[in-house]
Amino acid sequence: MTNGFLELLPIYPLIAQQFLDDYQVFEGKCLDIGTGPGYLGVELAKITNLEMYFVDIDPEALEKARLSAAAGELANTIHFVEADVCRLPFEDDYADFIMSRGFGMIRLRVYRKFIVF
Ligand SMILES: C[S@@+](CC[C@H](N)C(=O)[O-])C[C@H]1O[C@@H](n2cnc3c(N)ncnc32)[C@H](O)[C@@H]1O
Repeated sequence: MTNGFLELLPIYPLIAQQFLDDYQVFEGKCLDIGTGPGYLGVELAKITNLEMYFVDIDPEALEKARLSAAAGELANTIHFVEADVCRLPFEDDYADFIMSRGFGMIRLRVYRKFIVF
């Protein structure tokens, strides 16, 4: 495989399951910040009822996330949000769970749970 994300594919279900084991958030709103091709968000959506927000500053990344979500045949409500993490279009305490992998940062204390991998 030549695509770095594809080489990482096996880890996304494991991370998603780890999030559930550790935080027990099965429903509500979930933000995947810097979603890229959306693999982590898709895997978490598959095993929860979370309403998913795939957030990325790059519209091309969001197109890939759309394809991933379509391929995942998700029953969840899905949103694709083009936004800079420093200017998120959400009110304080909007989300129930926020995650981000492969994208170091930041101060988001307004959210109940926020995880950076
Ligand atoms: C290394 S990729 C990680 C993708 C995904 N989270 C994963 O683990 O497969 C980082 C992503 O963060 C996005 N990104 C970079 N800066 C950003 C910003 N300021 N706000 C939102 N997204 C950003 C990039 O467009 C890219 O899709």
